[in-house]
Amino acid sequence: MTQTVTVRVPAKVNVQLAVGGARPDGFHDLANVFLAVGLYDEVTVTPADELRITCAGPDAAEVPLDRTNLAARAAIELGRRHGIDPAVHIHIAKDIPVAGGMAGGSADGAGALVACDALWGTDASRDELLGICADLGSDVPFSLVGGAALGVGRGEQLRALEVGGTFHWVFAMAARGLSTPAVFREFDRMNEGLRVPEPVASQELLDALAKGDAGALARAVSNDLQPAALSLFPELADTLAAGRAAGALAALVSGSGPTTAFLAADAESAGAVAEALRASGTCRSVRTTESPAPGATVL
Ligand code: C5P
Repeated sequence: MTQTVTVRVPAKVNVQLAVGGARPDGFHDLANVFLAVGLYDEVTVTPADELRITCAGPDAAEVPLDRTNLAARAAIELGRRHGIDPAVHIHIAKDIPVAGGMAGGSADGAGALVACDALWGTDASRDELLGICADLGSDVPFSLVGGAALGVGRGEQLRALEVGGTFHWVFAMAARGLSTPAVFREFDRMNEGLRVPEPVASQELLDALAKGDAGALARAVSNDLQPAALSLFPELADTLAAGRAAGALAALVSGSGPTTAFLAADAESAGAVAEALRASGTCRSVRTTESPAPGATVL
């Protein structure tokens, strides 16, 4: 039996996040265009006496190490379905910001699932893995598949999208996190009494992705959660302004935030935007990376 398995899982940015009205189950229908980016968590599983989680990385102190962690829930659920005691040590080498709107927790859920499947030789089908991911959370299926995809329903029903080139990104990590449910609640509060249109994917945006055209993508990006994130975290407007002033083609909040994402024309421009953001004093740290990135991969 394999004694240890490591899986690498990417972060995501939402290049379009169209949000409908609140559903009776409390979720929102979405048209969610996910793009996986080259910031990764690595999830390592090793047989142990009982299930336990450890985490290393700059944000490790904020990661829950109990059974609320999606990585633990993934191992428990796969074990339950296959009659296996989920006695594993799950170690998360965390590079994706915590509570940042980049699906870091979802990445760890997808990573632990793929890692346990390989460790235990459960050989679960892709459909079974995707089903477990969807139960764990709306963004978890995308963490498994990576690349680019349109997510509808609550974001968990995926259609793979074509990407015709490399996009260059800069991400600015904020001084504190934002809770996704709190941002959706603020969205509901701000839209109270208004008719919220059905969320629809933008054809211009899908065409821009397929062509690999950064200028066209920049003109088409949108995030319906951005006003809510800015309402809860007004200082993010300064970060967005600093990136725009430094030549970013587009500046937006990533998902429910508070990480801000800047699309650059090329690697050189991304470097200049990153430098300017660091100098601006409006964020905690800055990273440059590219997209698309592959989904959960056994190393
Ligand atoms: O699915 P997940 O557990 O990641 O969602 C976290 C929270 O985000 C939900 O409890 C809900 O408040 C909000 N959410 C939503 N509509 C979605 C996805 C998430 O309202 N489509």
